[in-house]
Amino acid sequence: MRGRERYGDIVRYDMGPGGTMTLLNHPDHVKHVLATHPQNYVKPPQGGGLLGNGLFSSRGEFWKRQRRMMQPAFHRDRLAPMVERAVAGTRSMLTRLEAQARAGKPFDVEQEMTWVLRSVVSQSVFSLDVTELSPTVRDAFEFVMAFGRRKISIWSVLPLPRLGKRRNTQSIRILDEAVYEIVRERMREPGAFQDQLAAMIAARDSQGEPMTDKQLRDEAMTLLVAGHEATVSAMTWVWYLLDRHPEVQQKVREEMATVLGDAPPTAQTLPQLQYTSQVFEEALRLYPPAWVMGRIAKEEDQIGGYTIPAKSTVVLSQYVMHRNPAYWPEPERFDPERFAPERKGSQPRYAYFPFGGGQRLCIGDSLAEIHALVVMAAVLQRYRLELVPGFRVEPEAGVTLRPAQGLRMTAHPVSLPATSRRAAGA
Ligand code: HEM
Repeated sequence: MRGRERYGDIVRYDMGPGGTMTLLNHPDHVKHVLATHPQNYVKPPQGGGLLGNGLFSSRGEFWKRQRRMMQPAFHRDRLAPMVERAVAGTRSMLTRLEAQARAGKPFDVEQEMTWVLRSVVSQSVFSLDVTELSPTVRDAFEFVMAFGRRKISIWSVLPLPRLGKRRNTQSIRILDEAVYEIVRERMREPGAFQDQLAAMIAARDSQGEPMTDKQLRDEAMTLLVAGHEATVSAMTWVWYLLDRHPEVQQKVREEMATVLGDAPPTAQTLPQLQYTSQVFEEALRLYPPAWVMGRIAKEEDQIGGYTIPAKSTVVLSQYVMHRNPAYWPEPERFDPERFAPERKGSQPRYAYFPFGGGQRLCIGDSLAEIHALVVMAAVLQRYRLELVPGFRVEPEAGVTLRPAQGLRMTAHPVSLPATSRRAAGA
């Protein structure tokens, strides 16, 4: 942020032996990298054991083949049943929230969002709830996620890296076995389910070849991980912002009462939650889960009159762009009206890019919104979440943007606004 304030659209950092890093702060420059010259700007190698060669980590021709094969799993026609599956994924959260509300004790909303989104995402990928699998599998999943986030700080500061690494490798093996088992079971009765795994098994490349078991594993794991990590971050910020802005919360609840009454959302009613969806978009602006993205320049290039050296890193930051007053007046202010239909499109396309852009645009962008709206409805139709007074909330820039100390809140039952009682009675 300081770099942009001081130097403007292009900021060059000297990284010593690491070469140079260029931060691009103009929407046209982001467009150049992601959308018009993606062949010159490649993703840095990433992923590794857990994600394997799935869509997030793969590159080049193999990525292209996989993107084509994965697209049907996200096809519009498939998104409708996803709403139902997402609603199913919120059931265990509602049981937990009821207990929290009765006890009146504070709980960590970030942790709750992690559990519920794991359930929701695994329902859409496999038609089952990973949090209900055996404790061994659950613990393994918990460990690899924490290991990936370097949350287990003891292993990142003490000279014990092998201990953590070994447990990580073992945990990945446990998860692999669980996923291979699900895949094998499915192969025995193809067509029995209508979920994303079914679409992946049915997919064929241009030569008529299906994905191998290993590739199905990599893609399923990628969806499980990439499919919940960022949405957890987004939803945690949504609860924080709704607590800070009771007038917005009231408006969302009224919209839900009018559109849904006390029923869960369906594929027909969900798209009518216009204001709720604006709240989600505005939360992604202020607290973008993917707050930064890097690319390596293959060849030397020119951007905005500056030379981008070959093999150097360019950095695009959603956080910095989304708070640029040139595109977002009063950028620190939470205002869902920015995304009202009549104001949409008043900024350059890449002044807002929470889901990236170009050919590597997040494949789950529509699904993420479905998941977010379903979880918001499940909670807001029944509860008001209130921040523990005096609890400090500060963003921490990790793999995703999270509150540094989690988010401690209490749950209070609410009755439906009168509009919904009328709608429900009608
Ligand atoms: C609010 C939620 C989400 C945010 C903010 C988000 C953000 C992003 C961003 C910024 C990228 C591009 C990364 C890059 O180009 O370097 C990306 C890629 C990806 N996302 Fe998401 N994502 C979200 C939800 C999801 C969901 C729900 C899924 C799947 C169920 C998903 C699966 C993926 C995959 C597979 C990729 C790689 C796509 C490719 O390279 O072809 N994401 N996401």
